[in-house]
Order: sequence, then C-alpha cells, then structure tokens
Amino acid sequence: MTHQDELKQLVGKAAVKYIQDHTVVGLGTGSTVKFMVDALGQRVKEEGLSIVGVPTSERTRKQANNLGIPTKGVDEVDHIDLTIDGADQIDQNFQGIKGGGGAHLWEKIVAINSDKNMWIVDESKMTNQLGSFPLPLEVIPYGSVQLFKRLQEKGYNPEFRISDGKKVKTDSNNDIIDLHLHQIKDPQALALELDQMTGVVEHGLFLDIVNTVIVGRESGPEILTA
Ligand code: A5P
Repeated sequence: MTHQDELKQLVGKAAVKYIQDHTVVGLGTGSTVKFMVDALGQRVKEEGLSIVGVPTSERTRKQANNLGIPTKGVDEVDHIDLTIDGADQIDQNFQGIKGGGGAHLWEKIVAINSDKNMWIVDESKMTNQLGSFPLPLEVIPYGSVQLFKRLQEKGYNPEFRISDGKKVKTDSNNDIIDLHLHQIKDPQALALELDQMTGVVEHGLFLDIVNTVIVGRESGPEILTA
C-alpha cells in the first residue's frame, strides 16, 4: 500500500466512527471512500450496526452489497442523515472539486439531500485555490461536440474523458468533459455560468455543501468544521 493509500485508509476508518446505528448513510465514490466502505462493512459485521446505505455509483453499491451493507436508491429513502464522500480538491473556504471518478452527478444529488456531508481526503487534496485539478462536467451526449466548441471558445481547455480509446460513460450514460482551468478565481461565478449552459447536466464544483472534512495527515486525522 502506498503512503497516500495509508492516509486514505486512515480517514476512511476515522469517518465511520461518525456513523450511528439506525441511520441512512450516503456512500460516496472513489478510492478513499472504498476504504471507508470497507471499514463500514467491518462495523456492520462485528457490531451488527444497522444502517442503510445510499450509494452514489454502481461501483460503490456493488462493494457495499458484497460486504453485507444494505443499500437503497436515493428516491427510496425519506432522508439521508449523513453522506461521506471523497473530494479531488478542497480550498480554505471548504469549497470543493469532485468528479475525478466521474460520479459527481449522483454524488451531488445525494449530497444535497443529506442532512450532513463529510468529506474524507488525504492532505494532498487541500489547496489555496481550486483549479489545478481539472473540473469535470457531466454532459448530455447529444450536441456535446458543439458544447465542447463553446467551451473551447471560452478558453476553458476542455477535454473529453477517454478510456481505452472510448468516451467514458457515467452511470447515467452521459459523457464527461474535463476543463483544464489551472485556477478558478471565482468558483461561485463559474458554477453559475456552467449551471446555465445547455447540455451540461452537472459540474464538479461543490460549493457550500460540506460540513466536516477529515484530512489524513502524517500526524493523524485532522477534523475541520466548515
Ligand atoms: C468521484 O467522482 C469523485 O468525486 C471522488 O469522490 C473524488 O474523485 C475523490 O476520489 P479519490 O478518493 O479516489 O481521490
């Protein structure tokens, strides 16, 4: 296991301590969350913890079910008590970029329907300014080449996400365009602009969403409250 993975595991284990019995828990997506779901599976098995998970991707749903964690879809629950998710970048104002794993649409839907949101990250994700991590857009395939051109004209350095020579498809069967912006000076203004672009289903700016961040540091997990 790499050192970064050790930090991811550290925060994954720290996060599951916040999960209470008989609650509904949003389960994020990504390599850090994978460690958290492993640790949650252990609590379910060893303590008989009774929770329902609301997964933010098919990947997470499969992992949770394999570990004996029951899951429901976001529309099958009354409410979600707490969602635990990873992030790609977090700034000092607790604003974040997500979607490096291509799951940010479902992640945002689960997040905005949760009473509380917690992000778990290794220390490399903390930044003074968002943008050095490419900003993912989930886009409708129909017209996406025209949308791509509009993004190019704006100077946003778009790039379709490709894997094995094919466009990456999300769990909703959409495409992903990553914007190589390098720095985002005004996240709120950019979010508003992207929200208004036809064909963009959702962008990876998660603004004013998170309540608690657990950062994996050499010295141990650091808990930050927004
Ligand atoms: C999934 O689309 C993302 O939003 C992830 O939560 C984010 O990319 C963090 O993933 P890692 O924990 O793998 O870095």
